[in-house]
Amino acid sequence: MKIKIAEDYYQMSRIAANIISAQIIIKPDCVLGLATGSSPIGTYNQLVRWYEKGDLDFSEVTTINLDEYKGLSPDNPQSYRYFMNHHLFDRVNIQKSRTYVPDGLEADAEKACADYNAIIKNCGGIDLQLLGLGRNGHIGFNEPGAAFEKETHCVNLTQSTIDANSRFFSSEEEIPKQAYTMGIKSIMQAHKILVIVNGIQKAEIVKQAFFGPIPPQVPASVLQLHPDVTLVADKEALSLL
Ligand code: F6R
Repeated sequence: MKIKIAEDYYQMSRIAANIISAQIIIKPDCVLGLATGSSPIGTYNQLVRWYEKGDLDFSEVTTINLDEYKGLSPDNPQSYRYFMNHHLFDRVNIQKSRTYVPDGLEADAEKACADYNAIIKNCGGIDLQLLGLGRNGHIGFNEPGAAFEKETHCVNLTQSTIDANSRFFSSEEEIPKQAYTMGIKSIMQAHKILVIVNGIQKAEIVKQAFFGPIPPQVPASVLQLHPDVTLVADKEALSLL
């Protein structure tokens, strides 16, 4: 594993955006695996800036996102499709038809997951997968205890996630209780993996995930077994090493 130490969130985002840009420049029709959450927002902003300067071209790029809430439509501001459109896809020259996020409106979980696995395979696999790291070690929606051998699957959200999300919804029924996520196996099949982590609140899990044993209780620890992982983290997130 390569570790790149960033001074702060801004520098972490620039380094990550640099790595993604290099991938796009080397292979203009590459397949990028993408994440949502607070960690990649700065990276996406930087990619948009370089696109606006004329330094990046997304016209042949394909993207495959990690996860989506089951039951949320693309125009719901809490959906991950909405997030991606807002932070990246609507701001660069990517062809929307080449941007994939699990179909939150597909009620048949088996079909939604099989369709998504087929999309990943038909794209020829993921060249570079961007990942954030959950404070409990989750990647995608693969929570502690998740089996390492799964591809895309449907997960029941933990009560703490449901409670945390409740502030974004006007009624209890609207809060998603399930999500579709790429599994650990799908993530591990990416040719290259780029993990971005910032903040003191992630310091303990960075130590456990990348410098400890590899149990399913710390899903991200499996990344230690991948041959090409780059961890870009700020000094706070690396402070316990
Ligand atoms: C998002 C995702 C999640 C986040 C993780 C970290 O698509 O799959 O695993 O990467 O929860 O979230 P932030 O970046 O908000 O700390």
